[in-house]
Formats: sequence, C-alpha cells, structure tokens
Amino acid sequence: MPRHIAIIMDGNGRWAKKRMNIRLFGHRAGAEAVRRAMDCCRRHGVQYLTLYAFSTENWSRPKDEVDGLMNLLRKFLRDNERELIEKECRFRVMGRKADLPEDLQAQIAQVEDATKGFEQQLIVCLSYGGRAEIVDAARRLADEARSGTLDPAAIDEAAFAARMYLPDVPDPDLIIRTSGELRLSNFLLWECAYSELFVTDTLWPDFSEKDFLEAVASFAKRKRRFGGLDASATKPQISDSKSQISKSSDTEGAT
Ligand code: IPE
Ligand code: IPE
Ligand code: MG
Repeated sequence: MPRHIAIIMDGNGRWAKKRMNIRLFGHRAGAEAVRRAMDCCRRHGVQYLTLYAFSTENWSRPKDEVDGLMNLLRKFLRDNERELIEKECRFRVMGRKADLPEDLQAQIAQVEDATKGFEQQLIVCLSYGGRAEIVDAARRLADEARSGTLDPAAIDEAAFAARMYLPDVPDPDLIIRTSGELRLSNFLLWECAYSELFVTDTLWPDFSEKDFLEAVASFAKRKRRFGGLDASATKPQISDSKSQISKSSDTEGAT
C-alpha cells in the first residue's frame, strides 16, 4: 500500500456535459468523490492523501466557475470539519494561499488549526502550481542568501526540498489522474521525481473504491528502482544539508 497517494481530480466538466448540465454540477459531484477517496485512504491505511483541487492556471477560467469552486470549498470545510476532527485527520492546504478570498483563508486556517497533530493527513492543493512552488522556494533561498543567513555554496537538493510548501510530507508514492489525460498539468513537479503514475478513464465524480483498488493493485506490481538495480532499490535520500530550515507554522503550506 502506498504511504502517500496524490490525485489529479480531472473530468468534472465532462461528467456534467454528459448529463447536459452545467460544469458546476460536475464540481459538486466531484466533492462527493473526495469524501469517497478520503474513506478509501482511511480504510486501507494510506497516511497521506493529496488532492489537486485548483491550479494556478485555473484562475483563467470564467469568473462564475471560479466563484462556484470557491463556494464549494467553503461548503466542503463547513460540512467536513467535525468529521475530520472525529476521524483524526489533519487538514492542510498547499499552494499560494494568499491568492484565495480572505474569508476562505481564515476558514482554512481554522480547520488546519483544529486538526493539527493528527497523523493521517488530507492535503488539498489550492492555487497550486508545481512551477510556482519551485519559484517560491528559489525566492526564499535568494532572500536568505542576500540576508547572509544562508551560504549560497550550501544550496543543494536538500536545501530546495526544505523550502517546498510542506517539507515534512514524503513525496507521493502514487499519482493518480482521472479522465484519461496523460499529463501532470503542473502538479507536484519537484515531488513527482520517482512517483508511480496511474491514469484511469473514469471521470472524477465517478471515482469509486473499485478505481482506488485498481490503482493500488497496479502500484503493488510496480518495480521501483529509483535509478538503481532491482536488488538494491532504495528510495534516494536527500542528504542532510546545513541550510535546512525549520518551518514556522504561519508560513506553512504557502508563501
Ligand atoms: C477538474 O475538472 C476540476 C478542476 C480543475 C477544478 P475539470 O473542471 O477540469 O473538468 P474537465 O477536464 O473540463 O472535464
Ligand atoms: C488539472 O486539471 C488541475 C486540477 C485537477 C485542479 P485541468 O483540467 O486544469 O488540467 P488541463 O487543463 O487538462 O491540463
Ligand atoms: Mg480538466
């Protein structure tokens, strides 16, 4: 079983179109599929579930759709806060949180705070872009080098990794994309280096335990070599770096 599954939840619009309905109808059904995926992870012992819910590029969609998606997020948090606490699941957002409406930022902070400390984690990517995350890490490195707290010669992979949005979360073992598209669409570009990929034609609102089990069964058959040979395959360890930083809670998950 993978320890960390990340999902590109795609196909809500096509699901709605097939039903001759508006795109938002598909997004609403997508929120139900989120609950199913969370349940699957809990029951099958997957510690981290990361969901790609809104990309930095998704801001270019029509205002109606963007507003509708923000409303769905508000509703998701309202409807699920209690259950997240009861089921001991930590909720975290990663992405450029400052881009989000202020009330939503406050709601996110409140649920993050209420679920802090739980081991099982639900990570939702909002205003998230893999390139943005790498750029934000580079900016932090540059700021620290400029102010003299970081020796530029100490910049290595570990230094970068320590400045990603959630440096304590292990890289995803398995990335699932629904609706058949064979691309990453700017998702976890740093973290996906050795993730296994699984694409299903199922549209996100139809995603069920059957799809989940199919994905993990496929994962179980993979031979992960991490660039080595079969017998010696181990996850590459990013070596300790003197330049690693500890993240304070107010900058966590975003810049
Ligand atoms: C994924 O579904 C959800 C978001 C990107 C917010 P889409 O809205 O991309 O659905 P399709 O790809 O148009 O079917
Ligand atoms: C990826 O889906 C983003 C999310 C699932 C949030 P998109 O629908 O935005 O990606 P493209 O446009 O098909 O690449
Ligand atoms: Mg799409």
